[in-house]
Amino acid sequence: MTDAPVVNLHGYEARAAERLPRMVFDYFAGGAGDEVTLREARHAWDALAVRYRVLRDVAQVSLATTVLGAALDWPVLVAPMAFQALADPEGELATMRAATGTGSGLVLSTLATRPIEAVRAAGTAPLWFQLYVFKDRGLTAAMVARAEAAGATALVLTVDAPLLGRRERDLLNGFHVPPDTPIPNLAPEARRDLAAAPLAASALGEFTARHWDPSLSWRDLAWLQARTRLPILVKGVVRGDDARESLAHGAAGVIVSNHGGRQLDTAVATARALPEVADAMAGAGTLLVDGGVRRGTDVLKALALGAHAVLLGRPVLWGLAVDGAAGAARVLQLLRDETALAFALAGCRTPAEVTADLLA
Ligand code: FNR
Ligand code: LAC
Repeated sequence: MTDAPVVNLHGYEARAAERLPRMVFDYFAGGAGDEVTLREARHAWDALAVRYRVLRDVAQVSLATTVLGAALDWPVLVAPMAFQALADPEGELATMRAATGTGSGLVLSTLATRPIEAVRAAGTAPLWFQLYVFKDRGLTAAMVARAEAAGATALVLTVDAPLLGRRERDLLNGFHVPPDTPIPNLAPEARRDLAAAPLAASALGEFTARHWDPSLSWRDLAWLQARTRLPILVKGVVRGDDARESLAHGAAGVIVSNHGGRQLDTAVATARALPEVADAMAGAGTLLVDGGVRRGTDVLKALALGAHAVLLGRPVLWGLAVDGAAGAARVLQLLRDETALAFALAGCRTPAEVTADLLA
């Protein structure tokens, strides 16, 4: 272990790699196939050059914004990520505290390790619920009702995972979720399917094939809408036509995402897909993006390309692994400070001033 100070999100990944068991680090860090999309995510943000403005009086910068009725101190929510108790014993409760302390929002995964009621009680950050549609529609509807009753204010329907991507690190490690880790949305039989993996298999891959509904299609959006009053965001869209279709089927918006490179390898980078989707939506509906956001300048660029906010994934897990809620809060605060600096140096005082002309 090194004692060098950690000054950016990359440093948290290096520290987390020293602390986490190999199986867990690889599950968090890895992507599908050759991890081309995983690597491309970073390159695509880096490749965008900023045409910053000067002499704009940036003595006061405010990053505050409102997304789907959620008041945020800055345009970032924690992405839905499964099994956070593998990073820190408090799991999603720690993440909620970190989000609350940094004025961020939180999207809770279907595969969370803490009950949504407890997560809601652990802080005041805006809370959305991410939904995987199970073959058991009764269970799916019950999860939606439970999330709504617990105070979630939006649903995030993930559509890029009818089956799980082939994650070779997980196959090599026989990825599974030890039986003492609770997964409150699952019935005991389904929970058991995640507890052990045969040779060269991922328990999550097998679990997904058994329980998730690969027949999911546009008509299921109506099925879901009939069961909730909450606005629905469709997560995992990378095309303009799919974004328009989402809105036409009653979604409140979309999240441009390729699941952090964990599903279809060689999928288009989200920074490259975002302009097409923003164009197709033409200002209608809410637009978010995730994938490889690691720098304040990435947040600035996402907004310039038309996103209203971004989701931050893996770095939050690295913060949790290094120092629990405090570590996750430090990660979010680092990125928030970088974002405020990027705004100021680009000549922007508010999110509304981050316009398309900032990108070359
Ligand atoms: C995820 N992601 C994810 N997405 C989702 O809709 N439901 C989920 O349960 C999970 N679980 C999950 C676990 C882990 C360990 C990771 C890394 C990711 C995808 C996540 O929401 C997001 O799309 C990406 O992680 C964003 O990319 P970055 O910020 O991690 O690069
Ligand atoms: C993952 C699933 C659970 O990416 O969304 O691991």
